Amino acid sequence: MHPTLLECLTVQDVRNIENIKLDQLTNITILYGENGSGKTSILEAINILGLSRSFRTNKINTVIRKNRPECIVFGNLREENSERLTPLGISRSSDGKRKIQANQLEIKRISELARLLPIQVIDAQAFKLLEGGPKERRQFLDWGVFHVEHQFVLLWAKLERSVKQRNATLRQYKVNTTPLQVEIWDREIYTLAEPIHRLRKSYFNRFNERFCEIWRKINSGIEIELQYDKGWSVDQPLDAELKQRFELDKRRGLTSIGPHRATIDIISAGRPAHLILSRGQQKLVVSALKITQGQLLRDYLSKKTIYLLDDLPSEFDKSNRKVICRLLEDIDAQLFLTCVEADSLKGCWKNETQVKMFHVEHGTVTEV
Ligand SMILES: Nc1ncnc2c1ncn2[C@@H]1O[C@H](COP(=O)(O)OP(=O)(O)OP(=O)(O)O)[C@@H](O)[C@H]1O
Ligand SMILES: [Mg+2]
Repeated sequence: MHPTLLECLTVQDVRNIENIKLDQLTNITILYGENGSGKTSILEAINILGLSRSFRTNKINTVIRKNRPECIVFGNLREENSERLTPLGISRSSDGKRKIQANQLEIKRISELARLLPIQVIDAQAFKLLEGGPKERRQFLDWGVFHVEHQFVLLWAKLERSVKQRNATLRQYKVNTTPLQVEIWDREIYTLAEPIHRLRKSYFNRFNERFCEIWRKINSGIEIELQYDKGWSVDQPLDAELKQRFELDKRRGLTSIGPHRATIDIISAGRPAHLILSRGQQKLVVSALKITQGQLLRDYLSKKTIYLLDDLPSEFDKSNRKVICRLLEDIDAQLFLTCVEADSLKGCWKNETQVKMFHVEHGTVTEV
């Protein structure tokens, strides 16, 4: 597989953007302009193209330009060192309808779309990966497992269904639910748990190794350790533990252990990192984690990750800005960066690097 580049982007009716086109894009695109000019909206549009939704909200109606029926984002993906182009387009309308096309063929599943355009976002909410619940970090781990291990998505879908069914059964009969009624789902979850765990564990090991290398390069003097938690006890088979937890699960109406509870713990000096680190330091850890994902995608699939870096300069001092930009450059990802001042990322790139700059004003863009 050859890495693909989002070479051209058209955005229509996303927030204050009526219609813009960014052409002949390269690895690095900087969008600068005043507050409220539409910079983050362009990043949101790219996220819509890759995942059908914004990273700021799930409510598409707030993203669609006021008084317009739908928003449309279109992009051309070009395979590097080849003439092969994949046109990709998506429309989302305020009545909830969605239409996705790649190469003139309709795409029904978001997972198909996500494979075409792997996206990582680093914005002001980045710290949530550390501070948020275990789900945030499980989804983060699964992003990589999904891309690298193709059988994962099917196993995961089956697991999600089984857990839902078990929870529904636990709630259905309330105090009268018997272990026998959930047994079928216990077995399903048990059967799926090992293969899911193996895929995650194998990805995590590679991830951890790469992360340590990247973290060493950042040279922050902060100690960070990553631990993978598979979601149930290490010293007990899951089926036995599910049985043991039956009464507790019945009371709560949910399945308290299993691979759907897996996560990564991010530890600094023996404690959860977010309890100790400053906001800037947290952003540094999150950036390193997200850069590791792009590095692995590059290593194992020769794929380029798209990074949406919303106001990267904020919360980073000059030297951290530079170190993060260099790392992002080194993994050969495609970067879209926003900032208020045109020159706040000056000197962050290698001399020979080609950087495309666009000035964003009242929802329009001008190349400079
Ligand atoms: N649905 C909508 N329709 C029209 N305009 C909208 C809609 N939603 C938001 N806006 C406006 O679109 C503009 C785009 O905001 P955006 O967040 O992209 O700005 P920004 O350039 O990232 O600013 P900042 O530097 O403050 O982060 C804002 O002025 C906002 O008020
Ligand atoms: Mg913004």
